Amino acid sequence: MKKLYLIGNHKMNMSLNELEPYFDNLAEIASTSENVVGVCVPYVYLNMAKGMLEGSKVLYGAQNMHYKDNGAYTGEISAHMLNDFNCDLVIIGHSERRAYYNETDEDVNLKIKKALEEGITPILCFGETLDERNGNMAHSVVERQIMGALADLEYEEVSRIIFAYEPVWAIGTGVSATSEQAEEMISFAKRLIADEYGVKTSIVLYGGSLKPSNAQDILSKPSIDGGLIGGACLKIKDFEEIINTKVE
Ligand code: 13P
Repeated sequence: MKKLYLIGNHKMNMSLNELEPYFDNLAEIASTSENVVGVCVPYVYLNMAKGMLEGSKVLYGAQNMHYKDNGAYTGEISAHMLNDFNCDLVIIGHSERRAYYNETDEDVNLKIKKALEEGITPILCFGETLDERNGNMAHSVVERQIMGALADLEYEEVSRIIFAYEPVWAIGTGVSATSEQAEEMISFAKRLIADEYGVKTSIVLYGGSLKPSNAQDILSKPSIDGGLIGGACLKIKDFEEIINTKVE
């Protein structure tokens, strides 16, 4: 049985009231799962995640962080602060951050380095837009994003990263990549990481409209190690179905 990584990204969703039963349920679901379960929540709920998920089988963390330790950066959160809440994970370079907050490959690289330095597992997102795919640029964009994010890193550091291929055109659209498209790009990314850094066993997830109806098909592809799930993780029943996916 392949051990899948199934990590929810709440984005800017859910409330304190909703999260209480949600975390309880998620801890319960994860306790009997063979898969690795995680959830990335808004910063303000990390204290609650620590209280309710620490010691459970659910990994938890944030959706972004700054690369500096401290300073005059109004509204920002450092890796030290995430460590105050014992975060396991932090999403870095999500396409929404790249698109709406102008995050560059250089920013992503600095954040990846800082997260690794602080012992938090970064989930490094990459993926092309529809225009880039239609213009036959998907592979060059993905290569640029991965190489940019990993600049100056050593083998040992690269081996601690979780990667997530999230084609921008599949995020929040209800239309996922086909399992073939996802497999093709993820195997390309794995070859690149192996060739450039010698890491032959990198973990690469798929993200983009992953849901109960397509999880089995996508997650059973040989190169795909799991999913980064947005919309479908907000409903605990849907997330549970995805978490219960079994793949040979
Ligand atoms: P959706 O599952 O809502 O498409 O979002 C995917 C995503 O962006 C996870 O980070």
